[in-house]
Amino acid sequence: MKNSLILIGYMGCGKSTIGRKLAEISGRSFLDTDMWIEEKEGMTISKIFELKSEAYFRDLETVCLKELIEERDVKTSSQKTGMVISVGGGLPVREENQVLLKELGKVIYLKAEPETIYERVKTDTTRPLLQTENPLQKIKDMLGDREEKYQAAAHEVICVDGKSVTRIVEEIIRNEK
Ligand code: S3P
Repeated sequence: MKNSLILIGYMGCGKSTIGRKLAEISGRSFLDTDMWIEEKEGMTISKIFELKSEAYFRDLETVCLKELIEERDVKTSSQKTGMVISVGGGLPVREENQVLLKELGKVIYLKAEPETIYERVKTDTTRPLLQTENPLQKIKDMLGDREEKYQAAAHEVICVDGKSVTRIVEEIIRNEK
């Protein structure tokens, strides 16, 4: 069976785009924890933050990881297929989640500079944490806080600045061998 690959990193580092391509090329199924949560709750992340709370959302991230582990463990070895899992930018912050992520598979941190991230998210309105007056500063502050957690959660770090999706996917596949 193929190992699952888990992509972590800050908002806008390319987890979902890279994850989809990686899944297609490596013959794995793809799952995005944000989408899993939106489907479970029947509302967007922005609405969950607004109507429930960020804490409620964070608990669901842990529930998602636990369910993925449970689902995997009830399968027989012939039913098991590796997955590519892209996780929300804040999920690896919780220590409990760092352990669960490593239990799920190989964790890859897609590392990007704040300026790269800002260019990608500056017109996006779907990320509640970046709807502030100075998003670049917010990105710098949050990355500063999170860097250590991302490093602690990851088995491998890949810098994505200035690289194409294809190149990053190739790098991930090459490092698997
Ligand atoms: C968040 C990242 C988002 C989403 C939510 C919170 C974060 O996911 O989970 O808006 O705290 O960094 P993406 O990293 O997929 O944008």
